[in-house]
Amino acid sequence: MKKILLSVAMMMATISLHATDANYQVVPLPQSITAEKGAAFVLDGSTVINVAGTDEAMLRNAEFLKQYIQEATGIVPGGMSKKGATITLKLNTKLENEEGYVITVKAKNITVEGKTPRGVFYGIQTLRKSLPLEKAESVTFPAARIVDYPRFGYRGTMLDCARHYFKMSFIKEFIDMLALHNVNTFHWHLTEDQGWRPQIDRYPKLTEIGSKRAQTVIGRMTNLYDETPYGGYYTKDEMREVVKYAADRYITVIPEIDMPGHMLGALAAYPELGCTGGPYKVAETWGVFPDILCAGNPKTYEFVNNVLDEIIEIFPSKYIHLGGDEAPRVRWKNCPRCQAEIKRLGLKSSNGFPAEAQLQAHFMNQAAKHLAEKGRNIIGWDEILEGDVDKGTTVMSWRGVAGGAEAAKRGLDAIMTPTTYYYLDFYQKPDNSMILIGNMLPVEKTYSYNPVPDDAAPELKKHVKGVQANLWTEYVIGRDLAFFQLLPRVAAMAETGWTENAKKDFDSFKERESRLNQLYKHFGWKTCQEMYKEKK
Ligand code: ACM
Ligand code: ZN
Repeated sequence: MKKILLSVAMMMATISLHATDANYQVVPLPQSITAEKGAAFVLDGSTVINVAGTDEAMLRNAEFLKQYIQEATGIVPGGMSKKGATITLKLNTKLENEEGYVITVKAKNITVEGKTPRGVFYGIQTLRKSLPLEKAESVTFPAARIVDYPRFGYRGTMLDCARHYFKMSFIKEFIDMLALHNVNTFHWHLTEDQGWRPQIDRYPKLTEIGSKRAQTVIGRMTNLYDETPYGGYYTKDEMREVVKYAADRYITVIPEIDMPGHMLGALAAYPELGCTGGPYKVAETWGVFPDILCAGNPKTYEFVNNVLDEIIEIFPSKYIHLGGDEAPRVRWKNCPRCQAEIKRLGLKSSNGFPAEAQLQAHFMNQAAKHLAEKGRNIIGWDEILEGDVDKGTTVMSWRGVAGGAEAAKRGLDAIMTPTTYYYLDFYQKPDNSMILIGNMLPVEKTYSYNPVPDDAAPELKKHVKGVQANLWTEYVIGRDLAFFQLLPRVAAMAETGWTENAKKDFDSFKERESRLNQLYKHFGWKTCQEMYKEKK
């Protein structure tokens, strides 16, 4: 009797499963999707995933594809027989773009070709997003050819883990989210006035003291405090784990050690590195603070180089972000050592900025030289343009787009991350029930950005390397609010980074994103749903 019941239950389970169709209209939108003649491909449990060659990254790609298919549909490819149709993953050196891919769907075979395993991975992401999110016996893929490549080589998202610390489990989920949107760079903001997060062996007090604040201001700069100590840091092993987890998903982690400002975490631990000698404390409120690293003290340069040496041992990225933003120069103006350094170097006011701006440029250039000897280049926020920064520096344009234009004019590469489009700590809709930093940035606005219009100056076309969204976390605590702030705006940024501007269309994005929204829900990401509401 038990046996009969079991087989009836199994029959019912089978009957309730059905065939569904794939839909290639995904986010970011591929550059071209062409319907082809011929029968469709049917994916089911007999489908075999085949990798041409034994490349480790390609085998990992195959595992990802298998996992994605199972996650969305319950189908376990390759499980049953060899007669099934095949999904073949292979490299094709004839393709031009390092990240490009071609998917060919025919009755008996889907081929995903990339110049590199990275390109194949993006093809897999497109296949994955084409799947319906429902348990199915089979999925039909209409015959088609998809030719795709990114518009920009740099597609990033910054996460501030210093104002608030985020657990390793979240960091991995965040990376999964980036991979889903073909984002290839995780800019990891690791140090701040309110906390130093990366373990540095040579300076143990950075984490012992610098990673902890005694309490945190409540709400938006009230004079009330929570009277609760707050802290957290990442061990070297954890950071290496993040680098590997991201690399497996073709994401580069760029660490940011913000200097010379935003350094109270470090100054609380090593007060001798500040102009006044302290004492300092890890900040308990938000904002910009006058105490920054002393640029006239040789020990500061030694500290910076030693920290960076340990950072580059962990992070293999070509670029290391050195911040450079929001560094008031009031202490430098009154510091005998900083003033002596200005004199020694013969620094003068220029570009409409005082000599202290050139001292900051000197400071950044010293760190850049140290890193250049080890084959690395620096990125800095656009304030670094107030002085004469060395060639090879990349500028992140955040206070609008002017920094990008100025960088390009000076022959420097730029990444566009303007507050007006890409600051994801801003509100997405009017909402008195939430305390966020302020401002309004609906997803439509994020989506509307085109960093390099057709009529842009040639140097802008040459030097703008891509786009990035930033999630600052003064008011963003924990997983749920982080995903709410990130999505769907990361998707909107990702489409600008990937899809040619002429092919972008917000109504189409909204429709395609509504399918991806199902997957967000499946992962338990409580994202902003404002875009789907009927507008009155
Ligand atoms: C920044 O938002 N301070 C780069
Ligand atoms: Zn000083």
